[in-house]
Amino acid sequence: MTSLTILVTGGAGYIGTHTAVALAEAGFRVVLLDNFSNSEFSMVQALRSMVDQEVPFYEADCRNKSDLLRVFNTEKEKGHPISGVIHFAALKAVGESVEKPELYKSNNIGGTECLLEIMKEFGVHSLVFSSSCTVYGEPENIPVDERSPFLPSESTYGYTKQACEKLIENHAEENGEFSSALLRYFNPIGAHPSAIIGESPRGIPNNLIPFLCQAVAKLRGPLTVFGTDYPTKDGSCIRDYLHVMDLAEAHVKAIGYLFEIVKGKGCRAFNLGTGTGVSVLEVIDAFERVTGEKVPYTLGDRREGDVVAIWANAERAKEELKWETKRSLEQGLNDSWNWQQKLSEN
Ligand code: NAD
Ligand code: UFG
Repeated sequence: MTSLTILVTGGAGYIGTHTAVALAEAGFRVVLLDNFSNSEFSMVQALRSMVDQEVPFYEADCRNKSDLLRVFNTEKEKGHPISGVIHFAALKAVGESVEKPELYKSNNIGGTECLLEIMKEFGVHSLVFSSSCTVYGEPENIPVDERSPFLPSESTYGYTKQACEKLIENHAEENGEFSSALLRYFNPIGAHPSAIIGESPRGIPNNLIPFLCQAVAKLRGPLTVFGTDYPTKDGSCIRDYLHVMDLAEAHVKAIGYLFEIVKGKGCRAFNLGTGTGVSVLEVIDAFERVTGEKVPYTLGDRREGDVVAIWANAERAKEELKWETKRSLEQGLNDSWNWQQKLSEN
C-alpha cells in the first residue's frame, strides 16, 4: 500500500522535526518545508538520520504562492500528491510580536491564507493547525476547556493564532470537503530521547526550560523567576508542561482523525496538555531532583503580559483523538537537559 504524503510546514523547527519523526514511524510519507527564519538545515539532516524513508525538503516560504506551488506540483509529479498538511510555520516570540506586529501578521496570518489557497487549488482538504492556549488569555475557569471564549490578546502573536483559527473556520464553511484540527498546545518541553533532535532557540531564550538549561550549563547567568507574589500555591506562575514527543504523537492522531473520522466535517479545536498545573518553582525543584544539577536562580519581578495560571482540560483530545500524554514532567526535563548537554559539547 502506498503511504499517504503529509506536508509539514515549519518542518525544520522544534515541534515540526519531532512530529516528522512520529509521522514517519506511523507509516506516513513526510515532506518538509521551511524558510529557516528560526531554524537550520542541520535539524533536517538530523531527523533524516532517524527515519527509514527519504524525506524531501523544500526551502520555501508559506507567504510565497510560487514556493508553495513548487512544493505541491513537484510532489504530485513524483506520483505522491500531498494528502494533508500540518501547518507549524509561524513566528512565535511573544515579545518580538509586540515590537513587530506587521511582520507577525503577514507571516502568520498571510502564510496561512496563502497555504489555504494552494490547498484548495490542489484539492487538499485536511489541515492540522498549530494553535496555542494563548488564545484563551487569562481564563476565568481552570482547567480551561475548548469552549472557553477567546479573550482580547495581550500580544500580536496571540492575535495571529486567534485570527488563523477564524480564517480556517471560514475556509471550512466555504469549502464543504475541508476539515481541520485546531490544536491548542500548552507548554511543550523536552526533546527526542535520543538527543538527536531538540529545541535550538536563537539568542537569549524567552522560554523557561531553554533558559533554565542554559543557566545550568553556565552559558547564561542565573534564571530569573518572573514573579513570586501571584495568587498561586507558591507565588510563581502555573503552566501545563507537556513532552514534545507526546505533542508530536497528537499530530499523528489528529491527521488520522481528519482522514478517517471527520472527513469534510469542518473544524474541531483540541487542547493538548497534561491536565496538571505546575509552578515555576516546582519546575526548578523537579529539574534538580531528576538531573542532580543545581539550578542557579533569583526571584524577580513579574514579566509583563504573563498569565497567572493556566492548565488544560484535555478530555476532548482523549475522547475524540484517543490521545493523552504518556511522559512525565521529569522525563521532559531530563530530555531537555540531555539535549542541552549535547549542544554544549558541540
Ligand atoms: P519553531 O520556530 O521551532 O518552528 C517554526 C518553524 O517555522 C521554524 O523552523 C521557522 O523557520 C519556520 N517558519 C516561520 N515562518 C515561516 C514561513 N513563512 N514559511 C516557512 N517557514 C516558516 O517553533 P515551534 O516551537 O516548533 O512552533 C511550531 C508551531 O507551534 C508555531 O506555529 C508556534 O506558534 C506553535 N506553538 C508553539 C509553542 C511553543 O511553546 N513552542 C506553543 C504553542 C504554539
Ligand atoms: N519564566 C520565568 N523565567 C524565565 C522564563 C519564563 O520565570 O526566564 C516563567 C514565565 O513567567 C511563565 C513560565 O515560566 O510563568 C513559562 O514561561 P514560557 O515563556 O516558557 O511560556 P509561556 O507560558 O509564557 O508561553 C509559551 C510560549 C507561547 C505560547 C504559550 C502557550 O512562549 O508562544 O506558551 O502555548 F503561546
